[in-house]
Amino acid sequence: MSYTASAGRYQGMEYRRCGKSGLKLPAVSLGLWHNFGHIDNLENARNILRLAFDSGITHFDLANNYGPPPGSAEENFGKIFASDFKKYRDELIISTKAGWAMWDGPYGDWGSKKYLVASLDQSLKRMGLEYVDIYYHHRPDPETPLEETMGALDLVVRQGKALYAGISSYQPREAARAFAILKELGTPCLIHQPRYSLFERWIENGLLDLLGDEGIGCIPFSPLAQGLLTDKYLQGIPKDSRAASGRGNGALEGVAVTQAKLEKVKKLNELAQNRGQSLAQMSLAWVLKDPRISSVLIGASKPEQVTDSLQCLKNYRFSEQELKKIGEILQ
Ligand SMILES: NC(=O)c1ccc[n+]([C@@H]2O[C@H](COP(=O)([O-])OP(=O)(O)OC[C@H]3O[C@@H](n4cnc5c(N)ncnc54)[C@H](OP(=O)(O)O)[C@@H]3O)[C@@H](O)[C@H]2O)c1
Repeated sequence: MSYTASAGRYQGMEYRRCGKSGLKLPAVSLGLWHNFGHIDNLENARNILRLAFDSGITHFDLANNYGPPPGSAEENFGKIFASDFKKYRDELIISTKAGWAMWDGPYGDWGSKKYLVASLDQSLKRMGLEYVDIYYHHRPDPETPLEETMGALDLVVRQGKALYAGISSYQPREAARAFAILKELGTPCLIHQPRYSLFERWIENGLLDLLGDEGIGCIPFSPLAQGLLTDKYLQGIPKDSRAASGRGNGALEGVAVTQAKLEKVKKLNELAQNRGQSLAQMSLAWVLKDPRISSVLIGASKPEQVTDSLQCLKNYRFSEQELKKIGEILQ
């Protein structure tokens, strides 16, 4: 069935300015790390993407290695883009990344110019795109000079293969250096993509302040700790969950669903209920409460999860008392 996007798609979404740039992002964006590979169901993937766009989610986040197998999320996205979203290209922000292992030999990993330029060409081909909106260096490379890696981002922007440059998982000190190099090159960094959730709060120790001061956007990934920060594991590990999937590639594993974590999840769940939210909604709202957050980057294995998660936008204000309670639970 051919797809026409919902006419009301822009009514329920909030759009936040990405740092001090001209670009606005939806407060909730969708990532294709898992559930969009060749091992997954293509029709389900299509339905998730359609529902997301119908709900005002204009930003889809990919990387060269998403799948499994690596590359297959981009291939599947390319198929769905061709059939469903091509006519909406100018309404979409599509990102991809390189930085983790992608192909054999010395040129398919880390941060050389050789790797980053070749990988983007491959990504564009897989997705059937002329350009991506954001191209990220996926993780810092301790061996390649930062000038070379940032130079590669600057190059692809100048070539028109990407509109903006971003970095992911850089610590504050190396992020500050990357920002300075990019600024000097004339391609200011648009955005930083760090892991951030109620369970992983490292960006509060300097990175968020740096991003706020520099006017650079922030799009946290795994805000639900891959599903742990929902009520889904409270009665055990469901068969259709990520923790039971054995997907590999960094996906949540059963051993990470510990009793100690679940004790906290249970208490957080009660707090969410008192706020009239599901735990998933409260966990996302908690990330969005800070105005320096440009967008929160969710994953989903079913369209209904996107619908549920989007309800976080109804209330992302927290009282002092609630924040204190959260602090006590997470100690
Ligand atoms: N830059 C990086 O290094 C990096 C690393 C990781 C991720 N990312 C990006 O961040 C995106 C999101 O990461 P993530 O998938 O780990 O995010 P997440 O939102 O923390 O976890 C998503 C998982 O949580 C469960 N879930 C989602 N909504 C739910 C709901 N409303 N109720 C109950 N369960 C729900 C689903 O698990 P089930 O599958 O169990 O149903 C879903 O697959 C990725 O797709 C990728 O774009 C970037």
